[in-house]
Formats: sequence, structure tokens, C-alpha cells
Amino acid sequence: MSKSVSSVAVAKRDGFSSNFGVLAATLGSAVGLGNIWKFPYLTGVNGGAGFLLVYVLATLLVGLPVMIAEIMLGRQAKADTVGTFKKLAPNTSWWIIGGLGVLSAFLIMAFYSEVAAWVLAYVFKSIRGSILSSDPARTSAAFTQLIQDPIQSLLWQWAVLALIGGILSMGVSKGIEAVTKKLMPLLFILLVVVGVRSMLLPGASAGLRFLFQPDFSKITAGVALTAMGLAFFKLSIGMGTMLTYGSYFRDDQNIPATALRVMTADLFVSMLAGIAIFPAVFAFGFTPGAGPALLFITIPAVFANMPFGHLFMVVFFVLTAIAATGAMLSLLEVPVSVLSERLGWSRTKATVWTLLALVAVGALAALSNSVIADFKLFGMTLFDLFDALTSKVLMPLGGIMMCLFTGWVWKQRRFSDALSNGGTLTNRRWLSALFLVTRWVSPLLILVVMLKGLGVF
Ligand code: TRP
Repeated sequence: MSKSVSSVAVAKRDGFSSNFGVLAATLGSAVGLGNIWKFPYLTGVNGGAGFLLVYVLATLLVGLPVMIAEIMLGRQAKADTVGTFKKLAPNTSWWIIGGLGVLSAFLIMAFYSEVAAWVLAYVFKSIRGSILSSDPARTSAAFTQLIQDPIQSLLWQWAVLALIGGILSMGVSKGIEAVTKKLMPLLFILLVVVGVRSMLLPGASAGLRFLFQPDFSKITAGVALTAMGLAFFKLSIGMGTMLTYGSYFRDDQNIPATALRVMTADLFVSMLAGIAIFPAVFAFGFTPGAGPALLFITIPAVFANMPFGHLFMVVFFVLTAIAATGAMLSLLEVPVSVLSERLGWSRTKATVWTLLALVAVGALAALSNSVIADFKLFGMTLFDLFDALTSKVLMPLGGIMMCLFTGWVWKQRRFSDALSNGGTLTNRRWLSALFLVTRWVSPLLILVVMLKGLGVF
């Protein structure tokens, strides 16, 4: 019993070594710059609480079902994203979902690694103290100076890519699992500290009202699509990351319960980030709609106003860098596993080629604020275009296809079987409801929000 054929195969394929490790790595993929950078700035640009509400709804109605379906398909096939569909539906074209996922992974990584580069730069700049100032004009000037410098933009991005490559080459359980498990709790604690400090600032309540008192007039179709895109981005779904991680899941892992925990914890971290940022935004007279720069200009100002602020700021950016690392590892795991399993390349070779490709694609995002700032497609810089294309088109499309595959090809019996671990979990009744949502509600909802948000009708 202890060495069944499948357990030997799994052991050879490398996978997560414990149930807690599974949770930590999955959460490590979800939690990242999405919570600390993207969630606050999008909430700020899109009017606050109303956006938050739509985002939470999208997470529940679309995010959770897609996440569960994806992890399930991955664990079922125990293969990379392309391989999963070739295995589960041989001689069909469903593997294209995997192909689109690889494309998305590159486009996301291109801009994500640049934001991580800013964070890494801020680690060093905060050690030197050069960005610590309670004057908003100075903190925003410091940020602008960084992103408009092409050399710094590229070098910091390469440093990020080299770091990630190093961890990835160590493998799934020793690299990804070990790093994320240790450091996520620390980030959590620090966010609470900053949040409390921010709420105690005079004038902080305006920020809390902005975050929690919805103004429904601000919710347009475009805002809804942005919120749904954030839900995809946050949970790392719709492009194969969760599918790939699912393939490393253990057979006795409770998938729906794990997904629910990850979703809840992830929302909680975003809330904490919002509470750390918005009260300070209003207290210091910044504007919430500052866009991608928001994190980099408010957070230094908050720290400049608290005791031991200098030290705390260094720790904060270190932890943010680590959160970004767990997320980037999971993004890269998609192309790396496809290359190594489809083409039979070694993990190292696959990692090196993926990183080299990223140096090229990433430069397009890195230089979007300097050398090629005037080059625009659809009115966007390449940085913004990669972001919009993935969150508003590719990931929703991927999500629709994951749902359709699960609901109409994989079907209810195997769905219930897989998600109850062959009947050992007592969740049958929930699963029938979840199946209906996955088959009908989620794909239709994604389709409508996407087409309406893109202005198709
Ligand atoms: N979820 C991560 C974050 O919020 C980013 C991320 C990791 C991601 N893997 C992904 C986004 C896959 C989309 C798809 O920072």
C-alpha cells in the first residue's frame, strides 16, 4: 500500500511534501504585489468601497469556483498545463488553454517583475534612508526618478529575475515550499502594525470611509471588469498557475477547503493593505487615485511619521519583496513545467530559457516609463497593455474555458469524485451546488462582464 504505482510516480515528479506546505505555497502564489500594490491602487482609482464590493463578489462567484476546478484538473492529470489537457482529453484542442496560459505567464511576469524591481530598489533605498520623507512631493519625486531611469529599471529587474531563477532551480519542495512557509506570517504581522499606525493618524477616518462606504454610482461596466480581472489576478487563476500547483497537490488534500482558506486569507491580506494605506492617504492629503505609484509614495510617508519608521520601512519592503517572490515562482512554474515536461528539458535548462525570454519581454515593460514611454498601443504603454490584456482578456478567457471543460467535458460524476477524494470527504451536497455554478453561473458571468466591460455590447 505504501508504495503504490501512483505514489512512486508522484514522488519522482516532485511535489509539495505536507498539507501545510500545500496551503503555504498556494497562499504564497496568491498573496503578492496584487494585495499590496495592485489592490490598493485599483481601489483608489476606481472609487473605493463600491469597487471593493464588486471585487469580493467576483472572488466568490467566479474566483473560488475557477480556482477549485483548476486545482482539481491539475491534481487529476499530475502534469503541466498543456499536458493536463492532452491527458484528460486526448486528441482534442483543449490543450490550447495551456498554450494561452504560457503566453499569459510571460506577459504578467514582464510587468510584475518590474514592480518587484521597484520594491527591491526600495529595500536598498530605504536602508540608505533616501526615500524616507513625510513630504509627499519628495516621496513622489523619488519614485518618478527611479522609474524614469532606464538603467536602474533594467538592472533591478535583472536582479529580481536572477533571484527567482536561483530559487526555482532548487525545485518545488525545497525552493518554493521552504521559502514561502517561513515568511508569510511575518508579512501579516507587519501589515497589522502599519495598519494600526495608519489608523491612528489624525484624519484617518476619511480613508476608512473611502474603503468601506460604497458609492454605487462609481460602478460602471468597466469598473466591474477591472474588479473581476483583479479577482483572477489575485487568486492566480485562469492561466494555469493553480492547475500546475494542483498537480503537486497530495491525493488526500481537501481541495475545496484549501481553496476556501486561501481565498479568505488572501482577501484578509488585501484588507490589511487597504487599511495600512488609505487612512494615511487621506491623513497626509495624498490623492487615492495616484495609480501604480500609490504604494511607493504613501508608504514611505507613513513610516516617516512613526517611531522606528526607518527600520520598519526596510522590513516592510523586504517582506513585500518576499511576497512577490512566492507569486513570481508560481508564475514561472507554468512555462518551466511545460518546457521540461513537454520537451523533456531538464529543470535548469527550462528555467534558464524562460528567464532569458523574460529579460527580452520584461525590458518592454521596464522601459515603458522611460525610453519607450511614447510608444502606445490602444492608448496604453506596453506595461499597461500587458497588464490589461492579461487581466481583462486572457485570464477571463482561460477561466471560461476551465469552467466549460470542467462542467461539460469532465462532468459531474468525476467532479464529485475528485473533489470528495473518492468519497472520503463528506461534502457531496456542496459539490452538486458547486458543479452547477461551475457549469453555468461562472462562465456566463465572466463572459457577460468581459464583453460588457470591453464595450462589445
Ligand atoms: N496572485 C499574485 C499576486 O496577487 C500574482 C500571481 C501569481 C498571478 N501567479 C499568478 C497572477 C498567475 C495571475 C496569474 O500578486
